[in-house]
Amino acid sequence: MSVLDQIKQYTTIVADSGDFETIAQYKPQDATTNPSLILAASQKSQYAPLIDAAIEYGKSKGGSKEEQAEWAMDRLLVNFGKEILKIVPGRVSTEVDARLSFDKDATIDKALRLIKMYEDDGIKRDRILIKIASTWEGIHAASVLEKQHGIHCNLTLLFGFPQAVACAEAGVTLISPFVGRIMDWYKKSTGKSSYEPAEDPGVLSVTKIYNYYKQYGYNTIVMGASFRNTGEIEELAGCDFLTISPALLGELNQDTKKISQKLSPEKAKTQTISKVSFFNNEKAFRWEMNEDAMATEKLSEGIRNFAKDGIKLETMLKEKL
Ligand SMILES: *[C@@H]1O[C@H](CO)[C@@H](O)[C@H](O)[C@H]1NC(C)=O
Repeated sequence: MSVLDQIKQYTTIVADSGDFETIAQYKPQDATTNPSLILAASQKSQYAPLIDAAIEYGKSKGGSKEEQAEWAMDRLLVNFGKEILKIVPGRVSTEVDARLSFDKDATIDKALRLIKMYEDDGIKRDRILIKIASTWEGIHAASVLEKQHGIHCNLTLLFGFPQAVACAEAGVTLISPFVGRIMDWYKKSTGKSSYEPAEDPGVLSVTKIYNYYKQYGYNTIVMGASFRNTGEIEELAGCDFLTISPALLGELNQDTKKISQKLSPEKAKTQTISKVSFFNNEKAFRWEMNEDAMATEKLSEGIRNFAKDGIKLETMLKEKL
């Protein structure tokens, strides 16, 4: 049995790719879309009709060029999401503009607008995950969306334990903590060239979050993301979900060594991580995040990069308006 098949016995595997062809090839349960992926796809001629439709839609809304571009951008995200939903049986994540990462109300408004666009096109909110950065404001927006509107959220750019705790208290559907990006930071800051999988700081971070959630009965799904090698993935066998790049999926599929389940609700319950609370304690949340240089820097960097691609996409649309 391949390592991939062994992991699939305890973990839902999602292909980490926004490329329609790869999604069609691997038939993952869920998939994601965001400005970076759309920007890449928009270079291909077969997607031109989706872009043209978004431009027409933006124009039909009227208003300033900025407003039209915003409508066009939202339309484009939804159009790509709808295409992906034709291929995957599960859900598609659709990202809220990263420039709204520190604005709770604007995040809620944007999510409601995206959901309305999907629903006007006959797609129910059950099939959508609204992807939001795990800032204080983002987590509080997600809480409102989940509890008052029944809208499911995927909280991303999650690097620190306080973010994970607050997300669980907020009742968010899914978090996607990053493994490889955490290791990258530690390699750079310590000068170490590699980590054993069991000592990998990204692996340790996700393990702690998983054990904490299971120990205290939180239902928020933990989906490990951003892997640099198969060792990290094997060390998290048993996690609720793992999203894996096509290259690493291929490697896991070739390998037939025997592996064991590392994470399980039973094992988690033997852990004794003290209960903490951050959702209603902004000062403690910000303080703990600030104490964690890795989480602070990686969150900021992630938001900057998402925003950069959003602006590029918007500029491309504005030129066509
Ligand atoms: C959640 O977001 C992450 C990126 O931050 C993405 O890789 C993942 O596919 C999304 N999860 C789902 C289930 O859509």
